[in-house]
Amino acid sequence: MDINKSGATFSSIVGIGVKLKKRSEEQKQEYLFLNRGVNAVCPIDLKEVVCKIDFNTPRIQVYPPNKGMPELRKAISEEYFGGLSDPDQISIVPGGMPAIDLTIQTLKLDKLYFADYFWGSYAKVAKIRGIETAHYSSPADLIRKIKAEPPERKVAVLICDPNNPVGDKMDDDNLVQWIRALNSLGAAVLFDSPYRRIYCGKEDPLFRQISALENVIILESFSKSMGLSGQRIGFIHSMNAEFNEELNIRILYSVNGVNAFAQELIYLLLTTEEGRKAVQNFRKKTAEEIGKNIAWLKEQGLLAKQLYTKNKPVGIFAVVNKSEEELLNYRIGSVSMNYFTSLKTSETASMSRICVSVPHETFVRFFAPVLSRVLEAQA
Ligand SMILES: Cc1ncc(COP(=O)(O)O)c(C=O)c1O
Repeated sequence: MDINKSGATFSSIVGIGVKLKKRSEEQKQEYLFLNRGVNAVCPIDLKEVVCKIDFNTPRIQVYPPNKGMPELRKAISEEYFGGLSDPDQISIVPGGMPAIDLTIQTLKLDKLYFADYFWGSYAKVAKIRGIETAHYSSPADLIRKIKAEPPERKVAVLICDPNNPVGDKMDDDNLVQWIRALNSLGAAVLFDSPYRRIYCGKEDPLFRQISALENVIILESFSKSMGLSGQRIGFIHSMNAEFNEELNIRILYSVNGVNAFAQELIYLLLTTEEGRKAVQNFRKKTAEEIGKNIAWLKEQGLLAKQLYTKNKPVGIFAVVNKSEEELLNYRIGSVSMNYFTSLKTSETASMSRICVSVPHETFVRFFAPVLSRVLEAQA
């Protein structure tokens, strides 16, 4: 049996998590797992919503429609696009990772750009699909690079804002202007920003502003903004009919539709009073604790300041000026910035990404000893 090896490696972040869990069990000591990319302030409280689901119906028990339940796609259009988007331009997919993979396999692509500091999975998915990758250091740098590409080269960019791993966020007006400029240059813009909706809701105009642009594809996940990574559900929006048609075929022959229970759950969260309240409470509590943790890191001089000169940190990640090994001494799990860039230097090795979406009190309890050791060293 011959294996079609992609050359991609398994996620190092998953490996770090396994190692930390083992250490915690062996030492019988509590660790703070800030290496993960999940909101851990509180779970979303689904009690009032799950009881509304009738499991004894074909709607739950039989194959769901290939691109998702029509009612769910309509509810997404209302919630995310102010009702202005045709639900046929929305396809339900099993989360953000498959959204990226399905999109890049559907597009004819020679090169995929993403930021200098990027979520490692971007590079892995591109590797598996045999697509060349390249990086940009700023919005202006990307525009310059795309203008310099030969016209026959098909390029795309993945935009993550707020960013994973840095946790910074561009000003929205600049973001929209940049996306419009990229769209005009003919680059496919894959807007992959699953952390954005933790901080805003239906009032957010962004998707309305960019969804009618012909080269923009919006990839969205309910993993982060609703705390439902276990449900494996998200969506892809594109106004390009040819893209949607091919995507529909690829969804059929790769996943054959998304779990009906997950679809029903999201539908109820978007359309019932109890559901909306559950989402709102989850986001409010999560955003509050994230805000406190970032403010505290800033006050204590623990943020890697050099990464926040242009944009402000908003979470759910932040980069601190301590290495993965240093933080491990204080039983704090983190991920070295070397895993998030191809520009590996001694500086990137001295910084690490932490998830700041944890209760503030626990966060300070674990970080205070780091600080007293820093003060001791300075004295
Ligand atoms: C930037 C980014 N995009 C997409 C995803 C994928 O999320 P999921 O597959 O859980 O929906 C993640 C998860 O960590 C992410 O950080």
